[in-house]
Amino acid sequence: MRRDGDVRLHPRQDLAAWRARIPLLGTTIPMNHCSQAPQTDATRAAADCYLDSWNTSGMDWDVWVREVHLAKTAFARLINASVDEIAVFSSVSEATSAVASAIELTDARPTVVVTEAEFPTIGHVWLAQERRGARVAWIPVRDGQIETTDYERAIDDRVALVSVSHGYYLNGFVQDLGAIATLAHAHGALIYVDAYQTAGAVPIDVKSVAVDFLASGCLKYLMGTPGIAFLYVRRDLIESLRPTVTGWFGRVNPFEFRVNALDWSPTASRFDTGTPPLINAYIARAGMEIIDALGIDAIRGWHEILAERLIEGGRARGLTLHGTPEISRRTANTAFLVPDSHHVETAMRQRGVLPSARGPVIRLAPHFYSTLDDIDTALDTLAGVLGTR
Ligand SMILES: Cc1ncc(COP(=O)(O)O)c(C=O)c1O
Repeated sequence: MRRDGDVRLHPRQDLAAWRARIPLLGTTIPMNHCSQAPQTDATRAAADCYLDSWNTSGMDWDVWVREVHLAKTAFARLINASVDEIAVFSSVSEATSAVASAIELTDARPTVVVTEAEFPTIGHVWLAQERRGARVAWIPVRDGQIETTDYERAIDDRVALVSVSHGYYLNGFVQDLGAIATLAHAHGALIYVDAYQTAGAVPIDVKSVAVDFLASGCLKYLMGTPGIAFLYVRRDLIESLRPTVTGWFGRVNPFEFRVNALDWSPTASRFDTGTPPLINAYIARAGMEIIDALGIDAIRGWHEILAERLIEGGRARGLTLHGTPEISRRTANTAFLVPDSHHVETAMRQRGVLPSARGPVIRLAPHFYSTLDDIDTALDTLAGVLGTR
């Protein structure tokens, strides 16, 4: 275990300055980034900016639509893509449905490989494609993790697409996207990545890992709210895709108002559907700018120290870790097995710590502004509620 004098225990960012910008910290220790980020002064101001614009101008579509473009640009920057490779949705479910509607499922290639580590909504979208002839093949979760060898067994030349959750929502297990993408592509299959649990927490470079599609919302490590999600579509795929989940914002020029023609935007905005989520776009950009200002590598470095404290501190308090203790294979989410997670969440909230319950585990997911004291307090509170100390 690292000792408190260890220089690595001091993050690059000014914790006190960042903490002063998060009002919730006055009463509560947020440990629920795997579920919902707290409000910051910046995201609050961004929401106010839209509300003020609406209030004073009545309507300002040029500015509002430009704001959506800026939010797309911020997401593109985060994952090393170009803005014309990004579409906007109101949820990851909707983005996944749009991708599903665009891919070919043929008698020769009917299979969609899906992991049991997907957030349920992703599994539901692929299962819904069975009506279109899809055959869903499941990759199992064993001991809270997925082995790359299971992909080797499941992927063959009949696979149309491999759907992968980059970070497992239950315990933060991080999958090796590069290895999975290489396997998928070797068999002519596409790879779809749900990065909701890693965007803003783990460096993502869609070019170096060569993924075909990647989606994320903003309310977890990207410091935003529900109601908006982004989809990356690899540039050289765009022109070949015709999503049947579509709408007027997917057209070459939505403001041409041609009802009887279905033209396709030459960019990934062919995946856009209806009127975009405006206030959410303001907030999303403000949240992503925080992550950009801090730098994803600095954030990741601090997360690793926090995760180590959580794992070792949990062990010292008699808590049972769910999933691998290997820090390099985890997001900032550390999950402990508990008997009744909703009861534990409620009891911890009453004691001033905000964790996140999911099925058999309680998840502790700090972020860039969290301190080692926050971690110790959260662990003490959890152990106190469970009576393990
Ligand atoms: C990994 C992951 N994917 C998807 C979702 C849900 O996405 P949405 O509600 O935007 O469809 C969540 C929500 O918690 C998640 O953790």
